[in-house]
Amino acid sequence: MLLISDLDETRSIDPEECLALANEYIRENSVDAIWENSWILRALANNRTFLLERYHERLKSYWSGDEKDKFQPQSLELARGNQFYIRSNIWMPLDAASRTLEFEQKLFAYNIPHDHNFQLLTVGYYGPGYPTEIYEYDSDCVTGEIGEKVDLSDKVDTILTPGRMIFYRQNKDIHIQHTPPEMSVSLNLSVADTNTDLLPQYIFDVDEHAIVGGAGDLHSNRLFLLDLFRTINDANTVEILSDFVRHFDCTRTRVTAFQVLQDIEPDACIPLLAKTDIGSIPYLSKQLARGNTAREYSRF
Ligand SMILES: [Fe+2]
Repeated sequence: MLLISDLDETRSIDPEECLALANEYIRENSVDAIWENSWILRALANNRTFLLERYHERLKSYWSGDEKDKFQPQSLELARGNQFYIRSNIWMPLDAASRTLEFEQKLFAYNIPHDHNFQLLTVGYYGPGYPTEIYEYDSDCVTGEIGEKVDLSDKVDTILTPGRMIFYRQNKDIHIQHTPPEMSVSLNLSVADTNTDLLPQYIFDVDEHAIVGGAGDLHSNRLFLLDLFRTINDANTVEILSDFVRHFDCTRTRVTAFQVLQDIEPDACIPLLAKTDIGSIPYLSKQLARGNTAREYSRF
């Protein structure tokens, strides 16, 4: 069931207090633990003064050359700890006639059905808020191949109005953000899960109920980089890829490394098939049976 609420909360806190309370009350990275304590982010949204000050500081840091935040300019880090981080996001209405429309749509990820590979609790803070469509899917039932069909729940439409909270659960909720009618700001509390780098994040076609690509996450980027070695490689590449096949924690990355090896040094695959479990990984064994070495996993 989708998690959307208009919680009544009167406390008002700043980002550092928000982070401290998250550390104190959210004792595990679970949907229940986060949702039960969602009042913490709601209380931050009651603080109507801190955000403008933070944006002033950011503007001044651009001037002084101190700006080190490498995230997209629409997103500002407010507090960060080992387990959680808090960010604000600006959502701009787009001018359909703008020459930079395509760039801006990508920047704001408007109209792109995607999931997140981390738990993301968000609250509307300012402006009318972005409209969003949300679906649920079961990531345990997908392998991540492009064109793979995915069972989606019925669509829910909502708007991230001020004070409304939406929980985009890790690899469970797919959402499409649409352009808000006026500039809007949201606040996010996200889990800094070390496992995130091993999890995919997908782009979907919700009309076709299918995966159409990876969402530019570290997982997709890693697969993207592995493809480079099909063209540029030396003996060291073979060693590194073989190590990935033997030891890396992410199955899809291991499979892709193996597929690249099949193209550039097929002899190196023989001991890997004999001494590791790589040949029995379901999506690879299907491909081996077809004699196909091309990567079929999602890419952005
Ligand atoms: Fe999103």
